[in-house]
Amino acid sequence: MSVTILAIESSCDDTSAAVVQDGVVLSNIMAAQDVHKKYGGVIPELASRAHQQNIVPVVHGAIESAGIASKDISAIAFTRGPGLLGSLLVGTSFAKGLAISLGKPIVDVNHLQGHLLSHFIIEKGKEKELPEFPYITLLVSGGHTQIVKVKNFLEFEVIGETIDDAVGEAFDKCAKLLGLGYPGGPVVDRLASLGDPHRFRFAKPKIKDLNYSFSGIKTSLLYFLRDNLKENERFVEENLNHICASYQKHLIDILLDKLTKAYKETGIVQIALSGGVSANSELRKRVVESGHKYGWKMFVPELRYTTDNAAMIAIAGYYKYLSGHRASMDSVPVSRSADYI
Ligand code: KG4
Ligand code: ZN
Repeated sequence: MSVTILAIESSCDDTSAAVVQDGVVLSNIMAAQDVHKKYGGVIPELASRAHQQNIVPVVHGAIESAGIASKDISAIAFTRGPGLLGSLLVGTSFAKGLAISLGKPIVDVNHLQGHLLSHFIIEKGKEKELPEFPYITLLVSGGHTQIVKVKNFLEFEVIGETIDDAVGEAFDKCAKLLGLGYPGGPVVDRLASLGDPHRFRFAKPKIKDLNYSFSGIKTSLLYFLRDNLKENERFVEENLNHICASYQKHLIDILLDKLTKAYKETGIVQIALSGGVSANSELRKRVVESGHKYGWKMFVPELRYTTDNAAMIAIAGYYKYLSGHRASMDSVPVSRSADYI
């Protein structure tokens, strides 16, 4: 008998629902929230209100476009955390209510586990090579920057992580300082492709082991812009593409230094990228170049599965369900989770 998982993702500012049947994604519906753009960042209260408006049509859309009936659902998976509490609460409560009304079990999923397992999302009729365990993932998003050893579908070991800000925040901060809007990553990516990455240099942080730090880099960009604007008030206008290209190169150099170190320390050659920042065109290019140099087998996600989406929650929920895991109806969202659940 088929195993069919309906999944709900609402951890930040995207409301998404997806259906996965026997590991194959049948639908993945998304409602982005434009309301945050004018504030230059996600406003938690507005995010949870928008999730409340979006959740019914998004879940309905996922079931309808998958072409399944609600009786076909084996379990409802939902993102339990980490994320914004008010946003998580909408998805969690909705999943529980729907599960009770349909008489189905629920499966709680860690959002990061979703990103890590996004390489296992299989689309109908498309052949795809899947990673073998163990593999190493560079998980880079707006909230996290980690190097994770993925041991199997349920076991993850964080072998390096940021001690302060996430790399996505460093992209978003750059866009904010340059007046480019939110989210900043895609705009910086686009402008950087038109600039010279060697025009400006920034100091590299000295962080031990496989860990990262991005807060000092954000501050050094602030001072760099302030000092140059003192000399020339048109500095940003005249150098916008070069600033984006140089700053982006700096962030990617740092990400790749530690990823390469992780490969050398573990000897693991299966290397994956995950999370919103893995949509970055230069990071994707550079990681493939490193892959050729060191003989890595690379897993770079399709663009639609890099940023937040429910298909990755459905696939993680699917493997948890197969392992026998079920969540209690008492489970509550967690804004921060130190451990993978
Ligand atoms: O995974 P995600 O959708 O949400 C979190 O779980 O945080 O990641 C969002 C982050 C934002 O910081 C956004 O600026 C960044 O991913 N991002 C990018 C690109 N597309 C999205 N950063 C660099 N280049 C991109 N093309
Ligand atoms: Zn995410």
